Amino acid sequence: MKKATIIYWSGTGNTEMMANAIAEGVKSSGIDVEVVRVENANKDMVINSEILAFGCPSMGAEVLEEEFMEPFIESLSDVDFSGKKVALFGSYDWGDGEWMRNWVARMKEYGANLVDEEGLIIRLTPDEEGINNCKALGERLAKE
Ligand SMILES: Cc1cc2nc3c(=O)[nH]c(=O)nc-3n(C[C@H](O)[C@H](O)[C@H](O)COP(=O)(O)O)c2cc1C
Repeated sequence: MKKATIIYWSGTGNTEMMANAIAEGVKSSGIDVEVVRVENANKDMVINSEILAFGCPSMGAEVLEEEFMEPFIESLSDVDFSGKKVALFGSYDWGDGEWMRNWVARMKEYGANLVDEEGLIIRLTPDEEGINNCKALGERLAKE
């Protein structure tokens, strides 16, 4: 049985809504999924999951949140991502998605196999279409 884990940081709840909708999509495919705030996550959760989604809004000036998410992602640089499927997601506001483009490039350098090469980004609070896109991403992650 495959294990799915979604690890995210969210300050005002937008990225958290995305995380929960992605989890619904994964669950609808019959796969167990754990949704964890990065503050409570550890590297073993990543090592022991075949399906992974990481979420973080654009913070600072087009960077990952710096207290928890940035060091956590940095800690994954030596994880063996072969055989794992990965998705990235997050909310933003005024930018053009630069933080996500940089994050995608970084995860590719780590060897991550991204199901969505652009990352799923949604401006501020996801609307119904946004939530449906999140669910669809979860379904894609769960597919063989
Ligand atoms: C300190 C701070 C820095 C931010 N920097 C950016 C930024 O560089 N680019 C951008 O598009 N949005 C930026 N935002 C907007 C957030 O990405 C946006 O509000 C997002 O919806 C927050 O997601 P959350 O509810 O999951 O915390 C910033 C917000 C805060 C509070």
